[in-house]
Amino acid sequence: RKQVTTRMLHKMKEDGEPIAMITAYDYPSARLAEEAGTDILLVGDSLGMVVLGYDSTVPVTIDDMVHHTKAVSRGAQRALVVADLPFLTAHLGREEALRAAGRLMQEAGARAVKIEGGEEVLPTIRACVHAGIPVMGHLGLTPQSVHQLGGYRVQGRDAASARRLLADAEKLVKAGVFALVLECVPEELAGHISKSLPVPVIGIGAGRYCDGQVLVYHDVLQIGSTVRPSFVQSYGHIGEAIQQGIQSYVFDVKERRFPDRQHTFSMNADVLESLYG
Ligand code: KIV
Ligand code: NA
Repeated sequence: RKQVTTRMLHKMKEDGEPIAMITAYDYPSARLAEEAGTDILLVGDSLGMVVLGYDSTVPVTIDDMVHHTKAVSRGAQRALVVADLPFLTAHLGREEALRAAGRLMQEAGARAVKIEGGEEVLPTIRACVHAGIPVMGHLGLTPQSVHQLGGYRVQGRDAASARRLLADAEKLVKAGVFALVLECVPEELAGHISKSLPVPVIGIGAGRYCDGQVLVYHDVLQIGSTVRPSFVQSYGHIGEAIQQGIQSYVFDVKERRFPDRQHTFSMNADVLESLYG
């Protein structure tokens, strides 16, 4: 099948075909998600929480992002690989942001970057777009600002913040984003924004009326942490399956049931004889 492009995503919005996006952080997850029909693979900085064990996305570095994006790119053929610009990068001036986005594209093989924030990151978004880097916006709950937002909570519930969110979304579109992630906003607002914007809106905790949906791989498959946000639907118990598999392996080792004859190598009898009599 043809590689997913930003143009194709626009066409999908036009045709009312929902866009399916999931995060991936390494080669096998990218391959599995791609073969399962995902349109967009997001190397999210959520990798800090789900695979590196940090308690927020703040500690994730550009080197971390490059490292994981390389692995995902190697596993992706058809899906559009989008990589997050990590904490602070979009605020350190155009040059710094361009350099980071450039690394994600050139060194790591991403085909687009995602940048959190509204008004305050417009110059960065414009600079990337002018440089030929496709940018996906991210509004609503922006986890890199968790310490400022005071926790992971729904955004845009009151009239003032809903208006600000819509205004930010429109500015991002003017700055040239090809798509927008809306995280944790009331579905009425997300639906309204999806309808008013010419670019695809991908929701997470943003209800039923977006042009697409995104979830975190480990949440969808229940790998790792047992706390999952209420907006997540999970479609597998893979963590449990992994643990059971490893338990069986450990048991067999302890009971000397593994390895068995078929797992071993042996020597010719004459060589053995010459060595040990
Ligand atoms: O890092 C991430 O996984 C994300 C998605 C939740 C949109 O930004
Ligand atoms: Na992210």
